[in-house]
Amino acid sequence: MQSLPALLDARLRAVTGVDPEMRPATKPQFGHFQSNVALRLAKQEGRPPREVAADIIERLDVDDLCETPDIAGPGFINFRMRSDVLAGAVTSLLEDPDGGVNVTRHPQRVVIDYSAPNVAKQMHVGHLRTTIIGDCFNRVLSAIGNTVIPQNHIGDWGTQFGMLIEEVLDESLDVTRLTLDDADALYKRAAARFRDDEEFATRARARVATFQGGDEQSLEIWHQLVDISKPAFNHAYERLNVLLTDDDLAGESTYNDDLPVLVKELEDSGVAVVDQGALCIFVEGFEAPLIVRKSDGGFGYATTDLAAIRRRVRDLHADRIIYVTDARQAGHFAQVFAAARMAGFLPDDVVAQHVGYGMVLGPDGRPFKTRDGKAATLDSLLDAAEEEAAPNIALAAIKYADLSNGLQKDYTFDVERMVQTTGNTGPYLQYAHARVSQILRKAEAEGIHYGAVTVLDEPVEQQLALTLSGFGDVVDDVAQHLQPHKLCGYLYELAGTLASFYEVCPVLKSEGEVRSSRLALCAATKEVLAEGLGLLGIDAPERM
Ligand code: ARG
Repeated sequence: MQSLPALLDARLRAVTGVDPEMRPATKPQFGHFQSNVALRLAKQEGRPPREVAADIIERLDVDDLCETPDIAGPGFINFRMRSDVLAGAVTSLLEDPDGGVNVTRHPQRVVIDYSAPNVAKQMHVGHLRTTIIGDCFNRVLSAIGNTVIPQNHIGDWGTQFGMLIEEVLDESLDVTRLTLDDADALYKRAAARFRDDEEFATRARARVATFQGGDEQSLEIWHQLVDISKPAFNHAYERLNVLLTDDDLAGESTYNDDLPVLVKELEDSGVAVVDQGALCIFVEGFEAPLIVRKSDGGFGYATTDLAAIRRRVRDLHADRIIYVTDARQAGHFAQVFAAARMAGFLPDDVVAQHVGYGMVLGPDGRPFKTRDGKAATLDSLLDAAEEEAAPNIALAAIKYADLSNGLQKDYTFDVERMVQTTGNTGPYLQYAHARVSQILRKAEAEGIHYGAVTVLDEPVEQQLALTLSGFGDVVDDVAQHLQPHKLCGYLYELAGTLASFYEVCPVLKSEGEVRSSRLALCAATKEVLAEGLGLLGIDAPERM
């Protein structure tokens, strides 16, 4: 369904030939929307703005949508939607099998690269953010009818395995008996020796080559490290209630066989050239070249990302590829995208976007740490929130806090604030949903029937209807611009309007058609709250 403001916008645009810049009215007495288009045109044409406004209204045919538009002040045009139109919009929302989202007429294949933790290491707070944000994109883009292909690009191949394998051998460890915590500790021991012990570092570097060259003993240890890590990742995904499964795993190691082919293509096309022994792509605008193959023959993070793009386009047939990582990787992706375009791996009609997010800060404004001063793991954050609230509420608190700020901004992990059921929090929206559910439950228990929205006399009822009718547009906006905070802001506004509605409009205590119409309005609000929370990956409880 096209939203009411969009319909109105299109009509006004057709008459004036310019963007009407339709805005919500600032006060109920001004109607629902306002446009300053007459003021702008008047300036160009050198005519009195109110006269231009009158001309526009004269030529505008919107009787089927609104009351006769008013001219206000110096020449603003005010629009008030017709009550029956608003009522009809809400009723059709109630009947919409798609829950009010606009199913796209141009479905795409969208690869979303998110989560991507590293083998033998705990997931940290950064992985919490990419997992939550990527999951939201997955839900939103799927809901509007795209085919989403999640790709969990886990770090399961890099040079760190050289030192890990050497350390395992030195300590004669049975890796199969390790937990991810143990592996994390092993990683730290190995990293410390790599830093301080020259002899160990040399062996570790040599081990990278033996391992990547297919040495059996090395591969077995590597396999064991991967095998103990995956269940721990899945455990985190379950705890976070996100959509990722083993089917979405496409770790760095899965590109290994593609690398020699890719190198040959790059050399043949002349896109990559040898410089001081390394095979490089010089990308305009970047000081350092992208190193495809190091002088010692090894491949790095960027090469794997080139291979990943190549496969996502050729085999997965992506129309759009979205990467969700820490904002500090923005430069890496900009260079990889540019290099992939030069190489022909990423054709012009395939969109590649990097969505970077900021840091999670503690109450002291520094990167969040656990109580004992360690860098926080994903589990420790969830534990902290669950100390304050039941798991589904704690999770709502975390996800909403993560998504409701602009993604690029750092956000402060203030558990006590996040779990409040008042203010702009996830639990507040869950509570709004539970409360409206309770009203509908009561109506059902009392045998009160409702179907369509038929009466919208109170301004706040109209406002609620108007807000509801804008849901599809907000979801489209998030799908396009990847800014979940807009959906959060929308739901917060919706919950606020619902609260104002309760204040003025008794529901169960009203009677007859007014009552059934208000119940239908409540049902539509419940539906949009549930759908909207669902798109954020947040559970909408019936009771709280
Ligand atoms: N494993 C990386 C990290 O933990 C993130 C990988 C992101 N995806 C990619 N295609 N590079 O920072």
